[in-house]
Amino acid sequence: MNIKVPEYVKKIKPYPPGKPIDEVKREIGVEKVIKLASNENPLGPSPKALEAIVKGLGDLHRYPDGSCFYLRRRLSEKYGWPFDGIVIGNGSNEIIEMVLKAFASDGDEIVVPQPSFLMYNLAATALGLVARPIPLRDFRIDLSEMSRAVTEKTRVVFINNPNNPTGTVIRTGEWEAFLKSVPKDLLIVIDEAYIEFVKSRECISGVDYINMTGPWVVVVRTFSKAYGLAGLRVGYGVMHPDVAGFLNRVRQPFNVNFLAQVAALAALDDDDFLEKTRQLVWGQLEYLYREVEALGLSYLPTEANFFLIKLPVNSHQVYKRLLQRGIIARAMDSYGLEQYLRVSVGLEEENRLFIENLKEVLEDLEC
Ligand SMILES: Cc1ncc(COP(=O)(O)O)c(C=O)c1O
Repeated sequence: MNIKVPEYVKKIKPYPPGKPIDEVKREIGVEKVIKLASNENPLGPSPKALEAIVKGLGDLHRYPDGSCFYLRRRLSEKYGWPFDGIVIGNGSNEIIEMVLKAFASDGDEIVVPQPSFLMYNLAATALGLVARPIPLRDFRIDLSEMSRAVTEKTRVVFINNPNNPTGTVIRTGEWEAFLKSVPKDLLIVIDEAYIEFVKSRECISGVDYINMTGPWVVVVRTFSKAYGLAGLRVGYGVMHPDVAGFLNRVRQPFNVNFLAQVAALAALDDDDFLEKTRQLVWGQLEYLYREVEALGLSYLPTEANFFLIKLPVNSHQVYKRLLQRGIIARAMDSYGLEQYLRVSVGLEEENRLFIENLKEVLEDLEC
């Protein structure tokens, strides 16, 4: 192709998406597919969100409210944080992108844990930024090393709490020491996409640390996981209003669609659904841990709605064989964890079928 493409764009490895369920069904000729690959809510969307969507359908000829007024007002009440410090995104992915667009430019650096959510690197590379990956220590984000990696070129540090794919959390002591050790003009994005699933009392919540003096903490949360609205694309950031002001400069005027706004607003108050989701995930994790151990495998205990299973072989082999049986999990080779399979917690029956099939696949592979 004779079109000029920036070198940094040529370097990007596109995000590896999960396969659409219907496509998997067609390819392998099965009726039922179980998707445990994208950490979605197996219960479906919040019923209150569905009701709000049905009510909103008649207004689709209008542009959405570009300021997301009602959703921001509700979030502002929930967190007791100024309305102007809340930004809504087309998924939390868009908040991540907006932070980078607003605060970093060509050649600047970001510090990221590795492995962690791939989007931090991807969004940075697409903007010509340089990502400094800091390896996990014992599968946990190593905040002391991340702090040491900060230079005067660093604009943003990304932290994922709990971390995808390891499910580990940040503890109060290490977090507070980290905040003290970094420059006051640094932006720290703490991505809490899975925070609703955390049980540990040691885990910090980023919203308790957004202050008015820097380092500038931006807390990112989403409606895609515990609230069951991944298909609508809606997430948000909580931050100092001045920081939000810069995000709003790079934000598209109608970045969040109308149905996403009304559904998220309704889901936010659906406490019963959130609690049902948490109880399902916690109960099923206990079942999955027991069964994985019974297969003679080890796993990483998680604080999220997914966990890592260590396999005796390269996880891609197991992934492919599970796929042939209609079960989609996530091989972790693209995260540099070749022997690990990431599995999202599904419904009781889905988890039972996953374990049954994993057992047979391992027998086929003679492990
Ligand atoms: C850690 C983390 N952050 C953010 C996201 C993106 O979520 P959203 O659907 O809100 O863009 C994901 C999705 O998998 C994730 O794992």
